[in-house]
Amino acid sequence: MKDNPIIVGLDIGTTKITTVIGEVAPNGTVDIIGEGSVPSEGMKRGAVVNLERATHAIRQSVQKAERVSGVRVENVFVSVAGNHAKAITSHGLAAIRRNQEITQADVDRSIENARAVPLDPNLEIIHTLPQEYVVDGQEGIKNPVGMHGVRLEVDVHIVAGTAGPLLNLRRCVQEAGVKVEGFVLHALASGLATLEAAEQAQTVIVIDMGGGTTDVGVFKRGNLAHSACIPLGGEHVTADLAHLLKLPHEEAENVKRKYGAAVPELADPDLTLEITTASGSTHAISAFELSRIIKPRLAEIFGMIRDEIDQALGPAELVAQGVVLTGGASLLRGTSELARDRFRLPVRPGRPRGIGGLTEIVSGPAHSGGVGLVLYGIGQDGKVPLSVFRDQPDTQAVPAKKGEGRPTPPAEAPPAPPVQAPPVAAAPKKEKPEKAGGSLMDRVRGIFKDWL
Ligand SMILES: Nc1ncnc2c1ncn2[C@@H]1O[C@H](COP(=O)(O)OP(=O)(O)OP(=O)(O)O)[C@@H](O)[C@H]1O
Ligand SMILES: [Mg+2]
Repeated sequence: MKDNPIIVGLDIGTTKITTVIGEVAPNGTVDIIGEGSVPSEGMKRGAVVNLERATHAIRQSVQKAERVSGVRVENVFVSVAGNHAKAITSHGLAAIRRNQEITQADVDRSIENARAVPLDPNLEIIHTLPQEYVVDGQEGIKNPVGMHGVRLEVDVHIVAGTAGPLLNLRRCVQEAGVKVEGFVLHALASGLATLEAAEQAQTVIVIDMGGGTTDVGVFKRGNLAHSACIPLGGEHVTADLAHLLKLPHEEAENVKRKYGAAVPELADPDLTLEITTASGSTHAISAFELSRIIKPRLAEIFGMIRDEIDQALGPAELVAQGVVLTGGASLLRGTSELARDRFRLPVRPGRPRGIGGLTEIVSGPAHSGGVGLVLYGIGQDGKVPLSVFRDQPDTQAVPAKKGEGRPTPPAEAPPAPPVQAPPVAAAPKKEKPEKAGGSLMDRVRGIFKDWL
């Protein structure tokens, strides 16, 4: 009997390196059969800064996932943070002979023509993503093969990576004992993992808030139409707290996770923390004040995303119907509320969906990149599997204020509980009990429907 195909994603982040192993069953369902996460080493903002340490951490992550799955990893799809990539949208045209149907060769020619743009020789093309086709002025065509017309046009989103950082990544991965099967833009992977079927008919902004970077993808009717990378993330929030509260980084991280909120209105009004600083002195800070330190950094990140989208596409609330927030840093309480306020659009938390297997391990937002790499890899017969069938909304939507954007699908489950942090030097004087929540992705299985 033939073995099921195995696809492996290697998400090399600023705070963690994650290997995700997926198995594709004959009926198209994707089971995650292995996962290995280790703290990131030798990386800074998506680039290798220490080859040996990065190689070591990658090897650890791969081996960990191998042990869980019992599978030997040979090839991996590797994430690339957007700050080492450049994306442009280029127009391609192909003339069709009169009275002849459009063939795949015509489609390929239109894409090839769009690709023929002068690119900096220091750039290596990672993705060529055709958007919709136009036949004789008729827009919005997904697949023009078999149609009649004399003029075939296509917009192609071309993503190219800077050669140096890509070479360094490839070298580390190879020295860790595996082969790079392909590089994948982080924002594309995150979108593949989190978008729901209903959102593939809309324009949605997917924001993956990581440790060192925030990757942004604008998905227009299921296609990645624009991407950007903000060189700020959750680590900067932690650094702000460490600096202002004079706390060691690790303790500032624990305080943030356990008591932080992105908007002061959501901070516990009755909670005051007693902080022991690095020098041993103690002082009190309310949860309200804590969130007043946190908010400006997150507001800065959302402001930069807004500016970026405004410049490239126009005002976010006019070009998009919703925002999906994912990545580990999106777990901070109140992040969706702040985003809703800044984008004036409905916002929902995004988690990997459309998968089975080890869902309790990979269902958090920090795994969107890793799971998305597997889903991307499955579609690599030249097509991107954006039509992974996802029929169950799995998260709580934060609706826009009245009159803003379109409503999102009804919420079916409460948001997942915040990750529990270990004890910290800061002790709460009074703390309300934490609410219990449940895993939302369990039992949700993805079935492949029609490929794009
Ligand atoms: N419960 C939580 N509350 C608040 N922040 C959290 C929580 N859990 C994780 N984070 C933050 O998430 C960030 C890490 O997110 P993630 O694992 O997605 O990043 P990464 O993929 O390693 O980084 P990058 O994508 O920038 O390379 C850290 O800054 C961490 O503080
Ligand atoms: Mg990441």
